[in-house]
Amino acid sequence: MSAGPDLDADISAGDASVDIVDPDSFVNGFPHATFRRLRDTDPVSWWDEHDGGKGFWAVTRYDDLLHVSRNVERFSSAQGITLEEMDPDDFAARRNMLEYDPPEHTRYRRLVSKPFSRREVYAYENGIRLLARAVVEDARTLGDRFDYVDRVAKQLPMRMLGRLLGVPDDDGDWLVERGDALLGNFDPDMTDHPLGLTDTDEFKHIPFRSPAALDLYRYAEAQAEQRRAHPTEDVISNLLAPTIDGEALTELEFKNFFVLMVSAGNDTSRYTMTAGLKALAEHPDHLAELRDGCIAGNGAIVEAAVEEVLRWATVTMHFRRTATADTELSGQQIKRGDKVVIWFTSADYDERQFPDPFRFDIHRTPNDHVAFGRMSPHLCLGAQLARMEIKVLLEELLPRVTSVELDGPTERLRSNFICGIKRLPIRVSWS
Ligand code: HEM
Repeated sequence: MSAGPDLDADISAGDASVDIVDPDSFVNGFPHATFRRLRDTDPVSWWDEHDGGKGFWAVTRYDDLLHVSRNVERFSSAQGITLEEMDPDDFAARRNMLEYDPPEHTRYRRLVSKPFSRREVYAYENGIRLLARAVVEDARTLGDRFDYVDRVAKQLPMRMLGRLLGVPDDDGDWLVERGDALLGNFDPDMTDHPLGLTDTDEFKHIPFRSPAALDLYRYAEAQAEQRRAHPTEDVISNLLAPTIDGEALTELEFKNFFVLMVSAGNDTSRYTMTAGLKALAEHPDHLAELRDGCIAGNGAIVEAAVEEVLRWATVTMHFRRTATADTELSGQQIKRGDKVVIWFTSADYDERQFPDPFRFDIHRTPNDHVAFGRMSPHLCLGAQLARMEIKVLLEELLPRVTSVELDGPTERLRSNFICGIKRLPIRVSWS
């Protein structure tokens, strides 16, 4: 059997009883053996937390995840979507659109969705392609050995998001570093204040308990002020402008949305691109076929490969909902107020939905993965953009190389939330 994205050995050899609450359980990769056991024998299981949290239900099967995602009245996002609970006042001050239910969420989404539609994203394609080409050409100057994350996968989403937001190119590195500190808040490589490893009590009232959130808020405030004085054509001006009905985001909504874009729009694409390249390096037959497809301009094969890369990576491992009434799920009695955590990565390896899920197959069809969510009003707003970035990068990279090999051990993020490879040393033969 070929290895899963995060196992370097046969999946059945993995430890099937790791603690899925502990971020250390993910530093060697997504604990597939444990989640497979849960899907098979305990699909909705109760987990205690270690930091005083009240515990949660872990939903691990595909069908159950869809049930929770679509039943927004029964499973609410409006009390938080992270495992950790927040003080209600702090929560009110920093809620982002993921943390609203309809109808408030519907209004919010209507106000921000225009720049992310399929049509708008297609209009950016050329710009994305030029950026991807520049990133690949920069990598070529490094020779045949380099870290794919640092030199390629991190560069494209960062440069693209900067252009989209209309912020100065020189601010890109800083924005990514702050976004990483926010989302990598358990990992000492990403932040000076890793949760669970240092004292973060003084930050407990701010988003993700990370001072990075405050820096990003201040930056968003300054950008908003500039655009109000001098409106431009970029996404920030677009978000600040009222719609034809005269509606507009409030200042707080804008700041929270800005922080969400910088955090959600960067590392997710980066880690997906990285997991995809790793899978292709481990499957040279697929790599060769895809390279031929890119050279021949066979868009269909590249699009199918992108979907498999998204499923294989499923980097956003979970989001939380809260039960609004007593209910039953896969035989478990869930009480009103219980936290219910849906595990996207587990669902994307559910044998009940995906035949032979641990086989990387660029021809997989159907491939109704949940990497961006599914059947939920919160379906990823950046999905078209992320798909486009991943596709264009493959199309620009693969025709320029004849082989890609892994060149040393990978390093992964310490997080139970984002499944990310933070270093992927590779050796390539440029063509
Ligand atoms: C491969 C890359 C990406 C992955 C895997 C991903 C994954 C997700 C997931 C799982 C959700 C929640 C779905 C749910 O709860 O049902 C989500 C929501 C969201 N994502 Fe993404 N995302 C990616 C890229 C992006 C990008 C590039 C942006 C923006 C620039 C973005 C912005 C958002 C926003 C704003 C939401 C909230 C939508 C709402 O609440 O209505 N994402 N994403």
